[in-house]
Parts: sequence; C-alpha cells; structure tokens
Amino acid sequence: MSDVEVSSSNHIVGIRLNRPDKKNAITSAMYASLARALEAAAADDGTRVVTLTGSEDCFTAGNDLNDFMASPTADMDQPVFHFLRAISTFPKPIVAGVAGPAVGVGTTMLFHCDLIVAAPSAHFSFAFVDLGVVPEAGSSLLVPRLMGPQLAAKHLLLCEPFDAKTAYSYGLVTEIADNVEARVQDIARRLAAKPPEAVRLTKQLLRREGGTVAERIAEEGEIFAERLQSAEAREAFTAFFERRPPNFG
Ligand code: COA
Repeated sequence: MSDVEVSSSNHIVGIRLNRPDKKNAITSAMYASLARALEAAAADDGTRVVTLTGSEDCFTAGNDLNDFMASPTADMDQPVFHFLRAISTFPKPIVAGVAGPAVGVGTTMLFHCDLIVAAPSAHFSFAFVDLGVVPEAGSSLLVPRLMGPQLAAKHLLLCEPFDAKTAYSYGLVTEIADNVEARVQDIARRLAAKPPEAVRLTKQLLRREGGTVAERIAEEGEIFAERLQSAEAREAFTAFFERRPPNFG
C-alpha cells in the first residue's frame, strides 16, 4: 500500500491520501507522488476527471510536521511546489471529498479543486499563524477573495477552525453528504460523461483571472463560435433531435 494511491477507470483518475496512522499528513515523497499523478492525468487524453480523497475519518492533517522541521521549502523545485503548480493549473475538473480534519494544506488545496463534497464530520483550519508560519498555496489571496477580509482574518489570523456547514455557507464546499465517497464518484461519473473539451475550456474560463466583462464576452464568443463547429456540439445537437442521450466516447 502506498501513501498516495492512484487508480484509473472510465476516464476517472482517483487519487487517495492513504497514511491513516499519521492522519494522512503529507510528506515530501507524498507531494512528489501527488504531483506526478496530477501531471500524468493532465497529459493523458483519456482522463477527464480526477477525484481527490483521504480516509473515512480524516482528509489530511496537512504538511508532515517532521518534514517541516527537517527541510525549509523556499526552493521552488521542492515537491510541495511541484504539487501546488500541478493542482493550481490542473486543466480538468478535480472533485474532492473531505471527511474529518482538513488542516493547513488540507484546506488550502481545496481552493484549487472544482467540486468539493464534505462529510458532516469535516472540519477545516488554516493553522499557519499558530505554528509561527504564514498562509501558503495562494490562500492569503484566495481566502479573502472567497469570504471577505474580515472572515479571512478570523480564520487566517485567529486560526479559528470551521465546520462543514460553515464551509458550505462560504461556498468552499459544494455540498454536505453522509456518504462522501459515493457522492464524489457520482459527480465524477457525471462530469466524465460530458463533452470533455467543453468541460476543459469551461474550467479554463472559470479559473482565468482579470480582464473586463466586455473582454470576457468577446473571448467567450470566440470560443463559443469555434465550439459550434466541434464534433462534441454536433453530437449534442444530433442527440437532442434524435431524442437519445448524447455519447461523447
Ligand atoms: N505531521 C506529522 N505527524 C502528524 C501530523 C502532522 N501534521 N498530524 C498528526 N500526526 C501524527 C501524530 O503525531 C500521531 O502520531 P503517533 O501516533 O506516532 O503519535 C498520529 O499522527 C495521530 O495524530 P493524533 O494527534 O493523535 O490524532 P487526533 O485524531 O487526536 O488529531 C489532528 C488529529 C489532525 C487534529 C491532529 O493530529 C493535529 O492537529 N495535527 C497537526 C496538524 C497541523 O498542525 N498540521 C500542519 C498544518 S500547516
């Protein structure tokens, strides 16, 4: 059994943190495995969706604190930065499932996921200041953007943890479900059945930063027109008129 399990079936790559005796705390070796798995899934045309989960009672206790003490991480060549680059630029949807604690990077990595299912047991925290460090993974930018600077201060300065319902109210998690694993698989299957290029382009638009509304309308319009000529759109329209479900391979 590896600390990061990777599986693949029906266009879905499953990545699971699997170090339960240490609450799935993430070591450098695990960051390297995560980065490799994401890079492979990004490059593989057959992969349409990635799922990211932990154990039934713990997503992850964040960075392994022994590793923190052993190696400073300012070097952008460190596995943690490979992982952060891979997840923050990942071109296809990532569906995450969180149960129990999601500490530090366990919460900040979720800002780079697309749909997030939380168990009622899920709880989130940015423990950085209490550990004498500062936020990472872009969270000092992304957390205030999501919840506003005052609530960000409550969680990033005061380090107050929050539960699944609060995470849902912030819009950090998409839904709360008793059976996280089943819901994650269901969402991943639904996404994998959709036209993959349209999904990829839409994620790219959703994650693109900056620009004016007018610029965005023009940009969308250009892509939209191209998409009308695509095999995916042809199949979707034909299926509609033939009164059958579309088939995107
Ligand atoms: N790094 C390294 N080891 C960790 C760890 C971490 N981040 N988090 C937990 N562990 C280890 C513990 O040392 C313990 O090991 P041991 O059995 O050899 O003593 C084992 O995992 C179980 O942890 P424990 O604290 O007993 O579990 P718990 O269920 O009582 O609490 C947490 C779970 C996640 C709330 C708690 O472990 C915790 O707060 N961990 C630290 C989180 C943290 O600060 N992360 C860094 C964020 S930047």
